Amino acid sequence: MTEEKRLQWFMDARFGLFVHWGLYSVLAGEWQGQRMDYIGEWIMSRYRIPGAEYAKLAERFNPQQFDADAWVQLARQAGMRYIVFTAKHHEGFAMYHSACSRFNIVDATPFGRDPLMELADACARGGLKLGLYYSQDLDWHEADGGDPGPQYPRNFGMSWGNDWDFPDYAAKNYARYFEAKVKPQVRELLTQYGTVGLIWFDCPVTINAQQSQELHDLVRELQPNCLINTRIGNGLGDYGSMGDNQVPSGQVEGAWETPATLNDTWGYKYFDNNWKSAADTLGVLAGLAGKNVNYLLNIGPQPDGAFPAASVSILREIGAWMSVNGDAIHNARQSPYPYDFDWGAVTQHLGVDGQTARLNLLFRNWPASAFTLHGLRTRVVRACTKTASADPTPRREIGFTQAIDPDVHKTALTLDLPREAPAELMPVVTLELEGDAEVDQTLTLQQGVIVLPADCGRVQALSAAAPEVDRAGILTNWLDPVDAIEWDIHLPEAGYYSVDIITSAQRHSAPWQGGHAVRIETDDTAIQARISADEMITRPETRCYAQAVTHCGDLYFASAGLQTVKLIALAIRPNNGVGLALAALRLTASQ
Ligand code: GLC
Repeated sequence: MTEEKRLQWFMDARFGLFVHWGLYSVLAGEWQGQRMDYIGEWIMSRYRIPGAEYAKLAERFNPQQFDADAWVQLARQAGMRYIVFTAKHHEGFAMYHSACSRFNIVDATPFGRDPLMELADACARGGLKLGLYYSQDLDWHEADGGDPGPQYPRNFGMSWGNDWDFPDYAAKNYARYFEAKVKPQVRELLTQYGTVGLIWFDCPVTINAQQSQELHDLVRELQPNCLINTRIGNGLGDYGSMGDNQVPSGQVEGAWETPATLNDTWGYKYFDNNWKSAADTLGVLAGLAGKNVNYLLNIGPQPDGAFPAASVSILREIGAWMSVNGDAIHNARQSPYPYDFDWGAVTQHLGVDGQTARLNLLFRNWPASAFTLHGLRTRVVRACTKTASADPTPRREIGFTQAIDPDVHKTALTLDLPREAPAELMPVVTLELEGDAEVDQTLTLQQGVIVLPADCGRVQALSAAAPEVDRAGILTNWLDPVDAIEWDIHLPEAGYYSVDIITSAQRHSAPWQGGHAVRIETDDTAIQARISADEMITRPETRCYAQAVTHCGDLYFASAGLQTVKLIALAIRPNNGVGLALAALRLTASQ
């Protein structure tokens, strides 16, 4: 099967359920009266719990409420098309019946059932693809589990490897562990549970290129169509894993997935109630689908095997929306626009297999005034919206006028949207097109704003640091003021535009940092600003990768039409090697 064919179901799915379940769930985030401040499945490392003591948790693990069909039904009705289940996490405990280690749920707990077998059967019955998470490097139960050693930067202060039971770093032999446990367990997983849609490796800290390759080849040999994520390490994998909860700012190439939490943990923590709302998660889902990125949304089941009630109700709400609007997500491909919109997201359906080509506009914020979309050069045949009221899927026609012109801004589709936002959490307007959407790529004014994303700019990389745009669309390594970035934009009118600069943190949970001095230039004028957090962006997308807005003042353009905007650094604060991490510039037309 070709790579493209293998990936097809994954690209069409767009939405999946991640399940983190293991012995850590029994502790539920608390150890000897201390509540864990980080992700729950890391509790063994956080409190350096001796392996022998940790293993005793198995005696208390008896998840009588576990019901694989209920999990599958909930995921399905939420519009999810696959489940990724933690077969073995960093703690080393197999959540299935493994013959190569008795440290598994069947042999070590009073429960005695194989939840993976039940889940695999339920997935087959319910029509969901099954994916398996397998931590191939870290294993805190084993003396030879991956350990990068004391010199390596720790993970939020925690050890990557088990250096509390096994402090003799020199005695560790990952290769031995790889042969004795990883390969046999991966073989079990891919031979005893039917068809596995994907295998989800994680944390390739010490695994070397040859071992990643061997693991990759083993998966291919056992199940040639099983997809592999890039966290197998060393540049391998069929599709890319974004960082945890990372939402790219720019467009991305190829197939991707963002694993995401529904609160702030993967493994269950009884006191973590920082839930994202259904509307928030749908907004993220739409934005990701508009970039060819799947959303793998996590639930951490309780020790009794049930999903936390809050997760269930959020997923049901998501499901209610998906049952009406899911066709704007499923099988969708990335937006033909190279930039994001403040009002929401765009997804696209290509006119393949006799289908009508469509653009779907998913509104997170319903437009307060008239709505016009510029740059669409394909004829719209019909515009409509759907609502869940009365009839299951009543369609409502939306009136529109369309002009197509050599000028990008005069190429305008104006929709007669109702003033009142429809009751839907995220209303969708579907545009049926005469053919596949052709969109003018020029950066231009949309609903009063021109967005200049870092990945649409020309980077002038003159320094040795070589600034470049990363996978999430952030300009990184901008550490030297000799480097700069510029964009060509199209202005419908001359005049003043206020400038905002959006900058980003570079690492998961790292604080946002600023302090740089910059100049923004046009042919006519220039303004200077200091990068400061005039406003922190508080969207679910920025919970783990903080972003801030700097209001820089007004920029004057003496004429309309094509213009160049240049961002120059006057002084850059190194900020521990992060420098000036740019997501985008935003120009807002003065009223
Ligand atoms: C990180 C964490 C791990 C979690 C994973 C989910 O790699 O170490 O605990 O399972 O993210 O994406």
